[in-house]
Amino acid sequence: MKFFIDTASLAEIREAAALGLLDGVTTNPTLLSKEEGDPREILLEITKIVPGPVSAEVIALDTDGMVREGLELRRIADNIVVKIPMTLEGLKAIRRLSDESVPTNCTLIFSAPQALMAAKAGATYASPFVGRLDDIAADGMRLIEQAVAIYRNYQLPTQVLVASVRHPEHVMQAALMSAHVVTMPAAVIRQLASHPLTDRGLEQFLADWEKVKNR
Ligand code: E4P
Repeated sequence: MKFFIDTASLAEIREAAALGLLDGVTTNPTLLSKEEGDPREILLEITKIVPGPVSAEVIALDTDGMVREGLELRRIADNIVVKIPMTLEGLKAIRRLSDESVPTNCTLIFSAPQALMAAKAGATYASPFVGRLDDIAADGMRLIEQAVAIYRNYQLPTQVLVASVRHPEHVMQAALMSAHVVTMPAAVIRQLASHPLTDRGLEQFLADWEKVKNR
């Protein structure tokens, strides 16, 4: 399973990249709005830090506008993936971009039929938002299970990109369900590596070593 980071913060991306297990980055307009500076410059910098796919979202709501913006975003760097919202206009844009071999990420997916349509339109990635579904008392991870099964049933090449991840349990469930990619905030990447028993064990080892080190 690939690990993407869900942020536009260069500091967070550098820190995650230094771990040596970062496969890509997802951004969105909200994440870019939190950072200082020109969004295109930030995206360019991100593509230099991470050689893997970097999702950058279009703002237009009509197909022609989305395609135009998508092609402009692609001029930033070869590893830009054009992120398109899950709408009827968006599906048409995904089809057109995919026919031109432009990689796309269909975002804001909240149901299995939407995931199926994104794949049929030719999206490279489909992004179900699990945390936002959990927030409204729906079952986000059930949608991941369904999307993975549907794509497998019909050998659809679209990759399930688990988005809106809130905690390590989302990541572990995604791995057990054979999701292709998980994108997560920096805090969740840190949480994945931590366990209170690891901390306690290390503390104990160091304390015991104090007793013997001068022998
Ligand atoms: C995915 O690509 C989105 O950027 C992201 O995961 C949205 O998550 P949120 O619900 O935490 O905003």
